[in-house]
Amino acid sequence: MTDETEADLTGATPRRRPKADVDTVGGRKLKPATLMMGHGFDPMLSEGSLKPPIFLTSTFVFPNAAAGKRHFEGVTGKRPGGAEGLVYSRFNGPNQEILEDRLGVWEGAEDALAFSSGMSAIATLFLSMVKPGDTIVHSGPLYAATETLIARILGRFGVHWLDFPAGATREEIDAVLGKAASGNVALIYLESPANPTNALVDVEAVAASRDAIFKGPNKPPIAIDNTFLGPLWAQPLKQGADIVVYSLTKYAGGHSDLVAGGVLGSKEHINTIRLMRNTIGTICDPNTAWMLLRSLETLELRMSRAGENAVKVCEFLRAHPKVEHVGYLGFLEEGSRQADIYRRHCTGAGSTFSLYLKGGEKEAFAFLDSLKIAKLAVSLGGTETLASHPAGMTHLSVPDARKQALGITDNLVRISIGVEDADDLIADFEEALKAV
Ligand SMILES: Cc1ncc(COP(=O)(O)O)c(C=O)c1O
Repeated sequence: MTDETEADLTGATPRRRPKADVDTVGGRKLKPATLMMGHGFDPMLSEGSLKPPIFLTSTFVFPNAAAGKRHFEGVTGKRPGGAEGLVYSRFNGPNQEILEDRLGVWEGAEDALAFSSGMSAIATLFLSMVKPGDTIVHSGPLYAATETLIARILGRFGVHWLDFPAGATREEIDAVLGKAASGNVALIYLESPANPTNALVDVEAVAASRDAIFKGPNKPPIAIDNTFLGPLWAQPLKQGADIVVYSLTKYAGGHSDLVAGGVLGSKEHINTIRLMRNTIGTICDPNTAWMLLRSLETLELRMSRAGENAVKVCEFLRAHPKVEHVGYLGFLEEGSRQADIYRRHCTGAGSTFSLYLKGGEKEAFAFLDSLKIAKLAVSLGGTETLASHPAGMTHLSVPDARKQALGITDNLVRISIGVEDADDLIADFEEALKAV
């Protein structure tokens, strides 16, 4: 049977999806780094093109009317699981679907969705899960725009929120979840490590607390922003999270040349979120999806190198007389609670950290203005090293008392290490410290 006749019977538009992906060889389950080269794409369905073409089209032709109806049943949620064929580029597209298949591979997620930005992924998740009167319980601090979205925007629609500090103990989490349980908790939302404190959340403790306090249909899902360590160094589905959120703009995209987001999880949760994405149109465009496919091929290489570089740079900075402290996950105090969470949840310390210089804003600015290789820019996870001043930039509008509580002091510089030569980076930091 040809693809065409099969499509007529099943209603599936013939396209890039291979009938059976090669995910094992000789019984060996292939690793994500291998699968990123071909998973989810059959060149023979695209003129033999080794790489997926970019499908620049707003709509897709149905093989027949019955197939169109069946696809719309999937798009509108009449039948769970999304459309079985390609429909319209606000709902799906080949590049986005290959990307989603490959994103899921890294964390062994059942399903995944691609978005136009990290924030559109987070907003779509919230809109699909909460209604007026519900409570979101979250760890704090969160990425500033996520906090704004919960407190100021969803707050306007009657959504409540309660938070616990990122490093909270099981007892502290129990206390907040117990208090929230008097209302309807729609979602538990975490960010680990927290931006910019780098504090890790004990996902296992949050899951245990949730399971002890909430039963049956009242049990809220746990979603977590894994942008800083994922997917290489942390995979929170393994610790009991239900949904993982990404700003793919960062390590996954990895070249500071695109903005995108992702959500991973069970088919059931992803179906709920997909319906909202189909309605509001927060899917990423085909070109961005294609660029992300290219990025994912080198994800492990890039993240591994950046992680190795960060160890060397942080060792150098820690020993420097003009440095007060280096807030790096590789330097957690032996025996501390944070070190215990790190041991249970992480396989690497990442490459984004906080550098506290001796002094204040003047010293921090002198350092930043003297860097030659590292660029003075916000964001993280790119091939190039970036440095910024949270108190004066990303967190400028945070009230002083909260800044103080979060350790966002004037002498703090945030650094994201890239894949350059580590000794060149050390030379750059050494010279810049001379200017302090
Ligand atoms: C932890 C975290 N989550 C979400 C976002 C938002 O992602 P985007 O800028 O792709 O919308 C960011 C951006 O810096 C972030 O650092």
